[in-house]
Amino acid sequence: MDCIGVIGYGHMGGMLVNGFLSSGVLGIDEVVVTSKSRESRDACAAAWPGIGIARANGELARRCRTIILAVRPQEVTEVLREIVPLMDGDEHIVSLAAGIGLAELEGLFSGSVTRVVPTISSTVGQGTTLICHGRQVGMHDALRVEGLFSSIGNVMLVEEEELPAATILSSCGPGLLAAVIEELADAAARASGLSADRALQLATETAAATAAYLRETGETPGDLIGRVATGGGVTEVGVKGIRERLPEVFDEAVAAMLERYGAVGK
Ligand SMILES: NC(=O)c1ccc[n+]([C@@H]2O[C@H](COP(=O)([O-])OP(=O)(O)OC[C@H]3O[C@@H](n4cnc5c(N)ncnc54)[C@H](OP(=O)(O)O)[C@@H]3O)[C@@H](O)[C@H]2O)c1
Repeated sequence: MDCIGVIGYGHMGGMLVNGFLSSGVLGIDEVVVTSKSRESRDACAAAWPGIGIARANGELARRCRTIILAVRPQEVTEVLREIVPLMDGDEHIVSLAAGIGLAELEGLFSGSVTRVVPTISSTVGQGTTLICHGRQVGMHDALRVEGLFSSIGNVMLVEEEELPAATILSSCGPGLLAAVIEELADAAARASGLSADRALQLATETAAATAAYLRETGETPGDLIGRVATGGGVTEVGVKGIRERLPEVFDEAVAAMLERYGAVGK
């Protein structure tokens, strides 16, 4: 049966099940979920009446051809060692685990393997899921996975060596930009009588509107800055200060993230 199986009903597993079913890309009878704890399995069954719940990873592996591993990286090896002996070999394993490479996954399962980097912004149908197919993945399986993730936002196909930097932008990016929004709002509130709540509301709306503007007009950030930061004006003063100091701040942040990713120089 060509069901999609999701192993691990945590933050990402829950988001994917919710996204696939809410978007209508999958019907309730096309998804099977399992998770380590009874609580998580029961929570899934309660949220999605009629969904397939497997009591064990092996049961899910026998019922599904596409198996999404939504467990933490340190649990991937154990889960694959558990299910691979029960599989036919023509299944498609889709791993969300950060830092576990295709070679390592293919060492545990010699069939089709794809790495996917999700993003929390898919919760609201936005953002980009990164997809990196292994050498064994055929056209049909590749398109099926790309179609699934297209239902919860954009997808971008990437080479494995691009994954660290692409992950920083698409998957860590919401955290980075949330920090920028927070700092901008806090600075405006600190320097004025504007309340912190209203400052955050304005900064958040402005960030969303700016992204929409850039996307819809096709202008570059430089084009937009040129329109807003007129000579000698208020914006120009702020942009000048930011352009002087932010490159160093972001260079350091990106270098630290790549080091944590274990990908310096890759
Ligand atoms: N969070 C993000 O923004 C993000 C972004 C990109 C990639 N990722 C990747 O996505 C994966 C999942 O992350 P997450 O944030 O969703 O983690 P999480 O919330 O901790 O969820 C992991 C789930 O795996 C289940 N689990 C653990 N061991 C298991 C086993 N042996 N068999 C079956 N289920 C098991 C846990 O089960 P119980 O709840 O039943 O105990 C838990 O629900 C990770 O590999 C991470 O690197 C996450």
